[in-house]
Amino acid sequence: MKALKFLTAAAVAVAGFAGAAQSETIKVGLILPMTGPFASTGRAVESAAKLYMQQHGNKVGGHTIELVVQDDTGAADTTRRIAQEMVVRGGVKVLGGFGLTPLAMAAAPVAEQAKVPMVVMAAATSVITTKSQYIARTSFTLPQAAVGIAEWAPKNGIKSVVTMVSDYAPGIDAEKSFTEVFTRNGGKVVEQLRVPLANPDFSPFMQRVKDSGAGALFIFVPSGVGSAVMKEFQNRGLAEAGMKLIGTGDVVDDDILNQMGPAALGTVTSHHYSAAHDSAENKTFVSGYKALTGNRPNFMAVGGYDGMRLIYAAIEKAGGKVDGDSLIAAMKGMSWTSPRGPVSIDPETRDIVQNIYIRRVEKQDGELHNVEFDVIKDVKDPGKAKK
Ligand code: DHB
Repeated sequence: MKALKFLTAAAVAVAGFAGAAQSETIKVGLILPMTGPFASTGRAVESAAKLYMQQHGNKVGGHTIELVVQDDTGAADTTRRIAQEMVVRGGVKVLGGFGLTPLAMAAAPVAEQAKVPMVVMAAATSVITTKSQYIARTSFTLPQAAVGIAEWAPKNGIKSVVTMVSDYAPGIDAEKSFTEVFTRNGGKVVEQLRVPLANPDFSPFMQRVKDSGAGALFIFVPSGVGSAVMKEFQNRGLAEAGMKLIGTGDVVDDDILNQMGPAALGTVTSHHYSAAHDSAENKTFVSGYKALTGNRPNFMAVGGYDGMRLIYAAIEKAGGKVDGDSLIAAMKGMSWTSPRGPVSIDPETRDIVQNIYIRRVEKQDGELHNVEFDVIKDVKDPGKAKK
């Protein structure tokens, strides 16, 4: 009898909990490289996610959001272990972050098995979102970014190019998609160079670019590495030799652009975000980010900011349900005005659909900026179109 009473009380307690499910604490676990060579990416995504929460509070759809951030140091096995711990023991309902492609790839099976949504806020190889039904992305894809400059260059006097990319998945994506579109538009790729991702020495590669006699260098390096590229471009006298510098916007990363000096001036790139983007949403974002960090936001920051926004909006839309299936379903087709411009989540691929801007590095008010001068609207990831 006593046991039965206890059971009944327990059942009532459980029922009570179920009834009160509208006011859970929802843990969002960000896994990011906070130390190591790609720490700038981790810092940008974390700061912007915190900014979003500062501006929008921590209550959504009756729930309380708690942000948990862990450092994977840029090591894929660590990303995977943290992802597992977060969902198995940590009670994390949504995973986010993922600073590099290998790190996102390592976590994908965890999201798939645990049925936990995984919001990729930084990594940008096309294939990532195909690795689990639970992955959505708020960063970009390299084929999406590269298409803009590949179309612009041949129409603007650039007929022959050497490509130089970091030798890992996003670099290969950039090289392939740029070459395909540039060639289709009448351009010629005279040489394709791949530079190691770890501790790259750009100097011998720059000499080969100079010797090639091409009209321009197309470059992809991940966020944070652009300064080293600019230094060697300058040291080897490539600009003086008449070589133009083009690429995806990763090389002229807004948070380090201003320190790159005159070598960066005139670089034309295509990308989804510039801190100089002219909109009310972006002004609020840039001033908030500067107040929080003392820095300009870069494209990694906007991925973190929109990642949190997507998570908040999905929790709200799912109407109190916080299981993975409900949340990922809510994310599909979601659209909003980002600091970068209008965006949406493609319901088929769960990748972000966004404008790609053509920008030139110019000096404005004494600082170097990526000044947008043309736009291709609502670009879906071209990397998926062929599959
Ligand atoms: C990736 C990382 C970057 O820093 C970047 O600018 C683009 C892509 C990546 O590893 O996916």
